Amino acid sequence: MTKALFGLEGKRVIVLGGGLGMGEATCNLLADLGCNVAVLDIIPERAERVAADITKKGVRGLPVICDVLNDEALVAAIARTERDLGPLDGMATIVGMSYMGSSLDLPMENWDTDHRRNLRYIFLAARELARSLIARGSSGSIASVASVDGIRASTNHASYGAAKAGLIHLAKSLAGEWSQYGVRFNVVAPGGMVTPRAPLGDAAKEKQNLQLVPMQRRGFVDDIANALVFFLSNLSKYVTGQTLAVDGGLTAVGPIDYSRFATMKGEMRGQKE
Ligand SMILES: NC(=O)c1ccc[n+]([C@@H]2O[C@H](COP(=O)([O-])OP(=O)(O)OC[C@H]3O[C@@H](n4cnc5c(N)ncnc54)[C@H](O)[C@@H]3O)[C@@H](O)[C@H]2O)c1
Repeated sequence: MTKALFGLEGKRVIVLGGGLGMGEATCNLLADLGCNVAVLDIIPERAERVAADITKKGVRGLPVICDVLNDEALVAAIARTERDLGPLDGMATIVGMSYMGSSLDLPMENWDTDHRRNLRYIFLAARELARSLIARGSSGSIASVASVDGIRASTNHASYGAAKAGLIHLAKSLAGEWSQYGVRFNVVAPGGMVTPRAPLGDAAKEKQNLQLVPMQRRGFVDDIANALVFFLSNLSKYVTGQTLAVDGGLTAVGPIDYSRFATMKGEMRGQKE
């Protein structure tokens, strides 16, 4: 009954960057809900390990080795997946990375790389899936990982932030174009997450980095998997073009704490005591 709510049993989803961290957690949750999963990754051992774990759960796990930054290879990988696993119903995109530092010194090739690995490949992959779904007359869902840096800016993170903001806008544009075919496109925007590449540091350093996070901690990869699977499932069947921040409240709450103005408590401006 619970599984049926998700509507993922027997479906097929490809996860781009599925071999580690958030991608691995997403592949595993999809499989737990009865979904067959293509695990696409640039590192063969990662894709193969996660696909083997999935197969043990009684659904199909297909490793797909591909560099998403290679247009031809990406298009071929999606076609190959549809041939080997069957027609796809959904796609999650996880791959993304950033350069950090002053925009005054940013080489233009780094700008391009940030846009290729956080925005461009997602458009190409989503369009391949949408073309396939539309040709078959099937509905489907795409869910992409952006960042809170695409919602509000972080200093010295310009090319990444602009690309992630572009992704958030892309989901809206494609929701506009593809809703008529039953194809949805939503985005998850993580805040600071504990991942294999960014493990927990010592408590004092963590605390210092989390001053603006109302929940006072980083999130975990399963928090992102849960949000992506929500968007890929029937639970969100009337939701498209949206961005869900999974950030412990970071983007909801600004830095001003009115306890500083406690003397004004209960007063209206200009009102006499
Ligand atoms: N870690 C955070 O705190 C945080 C915060 C906000 C947003 N994000 C976003 O979350 C996503 C995941 O970040 P992460 O650091 O966990 O990912 P990651 O670097 O661990 O990569 C995820 C997977 O993608 C694969 N991959 C990398 N390049 C690839 C390529 N060119 N082709 C195919 N596969 C490739 C990797 O092998 C890995 O298995 C990114 O989009 C990132 O921008 C992360």
